[in-house]
Amino acid sequence: MAKTASRYVCQNCGASTPKWAGRCDACGEWNTLVEETTEARPGPAGRASTGKRVTFVGLEGSASPPPRAETGIAELDRVLGGGLVPASVVLVGGDPGIGKSTLMLQAAATLARAGKRVMYISGEESIDQVRLRARRLDLADAPLELAAAINVRDIAASLEAERDLSLVVIDSIQTMWLDTIESAPGTVAQVRATSFELIRLAKSRGFSLVLVGHVTKEGALAGPRVLEHMVDAVLYFEGDRGHQFRILRGVKNRFGATDEIGVFEMTDRGLAEVPNPSALFLAERRGNIAGSAVFAGLEGTRPVLVEVQALLAPNQGGTPRRAVVGWDSGRLSMLLAVLETRAGLRMGSTDVYLNIAGGLRVQEPAADLAVAAALASAATDTPTNAGMVYFGEVGLSGEVRQVAQAEARLKEAHKLGFEGACLPRRIARGGRKMAVPDGLKLDEIGHLTDLVSIFTGKKPAAD
Ligand code: TYD
Ligand code: MG
Repeated sequence: MAKTASRYVCQNCGASTPKWAGRCDACGEWNTLVEETTEARPGPAGRASTGKRVTFVGLEGSASPPPRAETGIAELDRVLGGGLVPASVVLVGGDPGIGKSTLMLQAAATLARAGKRVMYISGEESIDQVRLRARRLDLADAPLELAAAINVRDIAASLEAERDLSLVVIDSIQTMWLDTIESAPGTVAQVRATSFELIRLAKSRGFSLVLVGHVTKEGALAGPRVLEHMVDAVLYFEGDRGHQFRILRGVKNRFGATDEIGVFEMTDRGLAEVPNPSALFLAERRGNIAGSAVFAGLEGTRPVLVEVQALLAPNQGGTPRRAVVGWDSGRLSMLLAVLETRAGLRMGSTDVYLNIAGGLRVQEPAADLAVAAALASAATDTPTNAGMVYFGEVGLSGEVRQVAQAEARLKEAHKLGFEGACLPRRIARGGRKMAVPDGLKLDEIGHLTDLVSIFTGKKPAAD
């Protein structure tokens, strides 16, 4: 007879222990251990192995790129690496209310309109709610097959018999439920078991599967990391609730490049693609304001220009505040220290606020120079040259270091009508010369002191 074993699984990190504890040993979170029972099957211990031999082959051989089904939403296809791969599984994560269901309904409907068989299984919303959304998005005529279900056994039974399915969307994985597992939907055990079952189906029936999942406020997928390695691609849908931009970011992709982003704008008719994000991010920028600098960034393979805004305010006693939106606060502290120690810009007792306008989250160290320019500009109350973009990494001794893809950044700046760029001093390394778009002025900076002197007037500004 099968034995039942019980163990305690951390709902935050997925670690399991045989004994309950108030605090998870692995990740240090409190009250996250939940009992799970599993049926222990009698193992093959003591018996000779009954497995079949595995065939080994060489690395060389015919391997064709996987076929792709384009969803028809170019920004989504870009992040997927060209479209959905049959029999692959994509996890779409994001905060509740960020627009995951809207995006997936749009993609599913577009694919269905293109003649593919698509099923949308909603565990969160009723049929009526999904229909209402479809009507609002003007998608109601799409020949999509819609169901509201949470029981994975029922879903499996329905999908098992299907042929020629292109895509199945499960919205969301946290609502899915398998009756063999005791714990509630959304727990690690349920998420793991239901995903496993659905993924098995996708692989055996050859359809693409999209699992929608909510992330917790810490940024981990609730019921959690276990899912990330079970799937072929992980896309995060992010953005600031207060902004209309939404960014779809690929963080894992077995069939394509990661770090690719898709940019969307939220409208009352659903998500609209933004083919030229720089123009959108800079749309509300005003020139000639101290504390603002344009960063020529790179998201995946895509150059994106964003405005970095810094504000310094006198501190009213106590520890100076450092508040950051859209950038790393540790990095800001480092930059402030470097500006102060290496370039003599005193900001120790002022409150510093830094904002990446538009709701984009910048992760590149290349933003250092733009942030430094915004800070230096705010500290000296001298506007940066509004026709310039900035990029470059700053080291602890104040040196400005080279960053990748300078040409792509310059090209984008030129395309958007900028006249110049402030960038790391080029080091002759032999090799190819950097292609600079015609008419673009370059201001090469070797050390932060050079940057600061532009604002303090010790050196004539580059313009
Ligand atoms: P929804 O897609 O339900 O978010 P999620 O599935 O991630 O929880 O979207 C949340 C709300 O925002 C919903 O009420 C619809 C609204 N919304 C729009 O009005 N326009 C849009 O473009 C998007 C994406 C959402
Ligand atoms: Mg939803």
